[in-house]
Amino acid sequence: RDSSTSRGLGDVYKRQITLNEKLQFYYFVPTIFFGFSSIICYISYRPEKELDIMNLHELIDRLHKKHTLTKEEFITLIKERNEESASYLASLAREEAVNIYGNGVFPRGLVEFTNYCKNNCYYCGIQGSNPNANRYRLSKEEILSACENGYQLGYRSFVLQGGEDPHYTDEVMVPIVAEIRKRYPDCAITLSLGERSKESYQKLYDAGADRYLLRHEAADPELYQKLHPESLSLENRIQCLWNLKEIGYAVGTGFMVGAPYQTVENLADDLLFIKELDPQMVGIGPFVPHHDTRFKEFPSGSVELTTYLVSILRLMNPHLLLPSTTALGTIDPRGREKGILAGANVVMPNLSPVAVRKDYSLYDNKICTGEEAAECAGCLGRRLASIDYQLVFSRGDYIE
Ligand code: 5AD
Ligand code: FES
Repeated sequence: RDSSTSRGLGDVYKRQITLNEKLQFYYFVPTIFFGFSSIICYISYRPEKELDIMNLHELIDRLHKKHTLTKEEFITLIKERNEESASYLASLAREEAVNIYGNGVFPRGLVEFTNYCKNNCYYCGIQGSNPNANRYRLSKEEILSACENGYQLGYRSFVLQGGEDPHYTDEVMVPIVAEIRKRYPDCAITLSLGERSKESYQKLYDAGADRYLLRHEAADPELYQKLHPESLSLENRIQCLWNLKEIGYAVGTGFMVGAPYQTVENLADDLLFIKELDPQMVGIGPFVPHHDTRFKEFPSGSVELTTYLVSILRLMNPHLLLPSTTALGTIDPRGREKGILAGANVVMPNLSPVAVRKDYSLYDNKICTGEEAAECAGCLGRRLASIDYQLVFSRGDYIE
């Protein structure tokens, strides 16, 4: 009797399982199946993703056509960026650069003639208060010999760059510029000596300098003050830039990308400031920490955002002379090539004597400072050839 009872209960149990299985099959399984399919459809279709791309394309097209955007639009263009918008932006930027300058890249021979500096920009490795910087100054003869070396290599554009070194008064600097002008009448002379009086800029211009690089660093006064000591002001920096323009220099400005405390809003301000100044050159490069500075723990800026901004700048002014910077090449071995493919059209190979190159150390791991870099032009020429561009050894003037 016991066994028959248990057999009976077993049958009931078996019937219940069968019913549940049927319910699962006819109800839950299709529900789960359709649920999953709609999630997969949604992920692959994502209407708002399409909308983002549409909006970004629209913004990029507007920038391309009108050469500017509002602050809010620049913020959206940067914040919402993705691979797709970056590649669309870069292709338009390249096209603009090639239309105006061809697929040539202008080399500027860079002579870093002093690493003494009276300032203490917080990000900079050669700031005056860094006791570990190995200081050097090049004499007039050494500067002239670097230029001669450059001229023989084919350079027709020289950049003399240094810290704000009180040694190079107008009395010292003017004869150097005048001598370069006399020896190389067919070359462009660019100075990058920091902030000086308008009178000083005028004297250097009269001596034969034709271009001046002075990055504004940060167009937002609050950020500017987070990056610089109180002795430096954004107001003075901007005044210097306007003075340089008024004198007749071709002017270059710029900023670091990914500098400590920098926000996307700050970047939009930088772009709008550049729009207003309307310079001939804009140098941007990623921030790279230097181990002797208060910013040593901050991360580097990214190649991706830097090249995105290079493309934006190209569309803001298709005529710009835009360097693919050494800092870009420092954080990525193909960084300079990526800059060119994003719309840059200038490179600044080092012409300084090899013995001092490692001491012009604004940031860590700077490239082109070793013995192998005695002749950067060949190296850069090969790099550019790999992306179907070529070095064009001319003055490389701004085309109006
Ligand atoms: N990282 C990247 N760029 C730097 N510069 C100075 N220090 C750094 C750094 N740590 C840039 C500044 C300056 C230019 C000559 O080099 O923007 O204007
Ligand atoms: Fe200087 Fe390559 S460009 S070593």
